[in-house]
Amino acid sequence: MTRRALLAGGVAAAAALSLPPARALAEGTAPSSATFPELARVMDDHDHWAEGYERAVLLRWGDPILPNAPAFDALRQTASAAAGQFGVNCDMLVFLPLPYGSQNSEHGLLFVNHEYPNPQLMWPGLTEGDAAAKMSPEQIAVTMQSVGNSVVEIRKGASGWDVVPDSSYARRITATTPIRISGPAAGHPMLRTKADPEGRTVLGTFDNCNGGVTPWGTVLSCEEGFDGWFGGDPRKTPDAKLLARYGASEPENSYGWDRVDPRFNYEAEPNEPNRFDWVVEIDPFDPAAQPVKRTALGRFTHETATIAQAPDGRIVVYLADDHEFDYLYRFVTAGRFDPANREANRDLLDDGTLSVARFKDDMTLEWVPLVHGTGKLTAENGFASQADVAVKTRLAADLVGATPMDAPEGFSVNPKTGKIYVALTENTDITLAQVNAPNPRAPNPEGHLIELIPPGAAVDAAHKADHAAETYRWDIFILCGDPKNPEAKALYHPGTSGNGWFTDPDNIGFDPSGRMYVCTDGPPDAGFNDALYVLDTEGEGRALPKLFYSPPVGSECSSPAFTPDGKTLFLSVQHPGENSESLDKVSTRWPDFKPDTPPRPSVIVITKADGGPVGT
Ligand code: FEO
Ligand code: CA
Ligand code: CA
Ligand code: CA
Repeated sequence: MTRRALLAGGVAAAAALSLPPARALAEGTAPSSATFPELARVMDDHDHWAEGYERAVLLRWGDPILPNAPAFDALRQTASAAAGQFGVNCDMLVFLPLPYGSQNSEHGLLFVNHEYPNPQLMWPGLTEGDAAAKMSPEQIAVTMQSVGNSVVEIRKGASGWDVVPDSSYARRITATTPIRISGPAAGHPMLRTKADPEGRTVLGTFDNCNGGVTPWGTVLSCEEGFDGWFGGDPRKTPDAKLLARYGASEPENSYGWDRVDPRFNYEAEPNEPNRFDWVVEIDPFDPAAQPVKRTALGRFTHETATIAQAPDGRIVVYLADDHEFDYLYRFVTAGRFDPANREANRDLLDDGTLSVARFKDDMTLEWVPLVHGTGKLTAENGFASQADVAVKTRLAADLVGATPMDAPEGFSVNPKTGKIYVALTENTDITLAQVNAPNPRAPNPEGHLIELIPPGAAVDAAHKADHAAETYRWDIFILCGDPKNPEAKALYHPGTSGNGWFTDPDNIGFDPSGRMYVCTDGPPDAGFNDALYVLDTEGEGRALPKLFYSPPVGSECSSPAFTPDGKTLFLSVQHPGENSESLDKVSTRWPDFKPDTPPRPSVIVITKADGGPVGT
């Protein structure tokens, strides 16, 4: 049997899949296009990067962003200061060259998501368990101003990259910024609240994880869940079943927001949670443009929203629902992208077809449309309109037989081939009875990567991958874990070193030459830090990861983003020290290492010392 046939066999595959021969290659002879000397595994309170590279800290939590914002003062944090400063736990990064539409690699805008606060690492005297009850109202208000998004203008000078002070582009979006709701669910009764009886404007965005950038230079920011952000008991609401399907099955109040704003209480305002878990479109080039929640893209635990273009000009958004046993989605616009008229693309994402992936054992997958009135998506089953499909997307996907996945995170297109890669971060709950062809291991504590191949994808920069096709082929790319441990049933290039294998793949990025960058988000008991690995997806070095960057203990690095010339890599370092119970005994105070300054999540810049492209 071939490897492909074995994997397609599901349960049999999980048992029979054997390790490729561990043909150890001498250091430096591995056939990867990533020729840097591989970093050795490390687990300490500092960060580390491959020899021949330079790393600088560009932006730290609390750095002033808006004109007149004060300098960060860890001991005297206020909500009004935080509203003008760089937020906490930077996640997605998008570099947008200035001027708009250029390929400038030395001047541009950096768009940043701020995923969630860690109160226990922002102030002394708090733990994760008691922060929601113990924080002062002002501290809670600080957390509300520390999430959302930042836009900063940055420029490369003789001494490296710097933030341009007092930029007219500088912007913060927080948990209190007014955001328009558009698309099929705008005005839906389930989106109406006391403060917004029309159901068309919501205050704020949070849990902003990853996302994407459109060809017209706007950014898609993904809301990755609301459970944990609300007080009260979700079981005591009219929509308890729906809330449970969206992850809120019992009280779990992490930040105490309901103590300063009752809309963040399930029982006081049962529809407020329905106004989150969307994809938000933001125009970084126009600080006055109101952000928009695009409901046509569905509602679930949005991890990422990667954009591709079909050969006919329609825009395609790949969407991952980051939850065990949840699904991969795709949205295809009805209209076509107009490169000559930016304004004409303004509402392109309001009209189109949302589909969900159904994988088959014959190594194909089909995109099943989630269109009201077709198949089971009818009023009898709770879907009286496309608006219902948008608000209750997970329930609609359950009905059409979508393929449950091992918690999808990264979902990225290789720009050089048009092939698409999905990171399934892990699923410890999957049983042998539940494995399927694209998720072949049970349990799967270490995760894997799969490859989707649309018609027309090819190893050719001029490929014509049809991202709007109804059927794709697919394959397993990597099964994570230690290749020297037969029980892990790992699968990589046989030349993978003891430093290069990884677990829990999360974000996937590509440099302009098509090399893949995988960030991990694994359990702290893996024995080494989360890190960034570089690998080829084609050729001799296919599936041979090499350790490139290792952030400080307790953190994950995320969202590798490149300048168009590939010479600058921007990377987020999220939640340094998160393995600590509290700030009083914190495992790192990276990057400042000052006694009264907490660890500060930061954006770093990695460049090659000789000025060449990153990754070589
Ligand atoms: Fe925000 Fe799924 O990581
Ligand atoms: Ca992630
Ligand atoms: Ca994470
Ligand atoms: Ca993750």
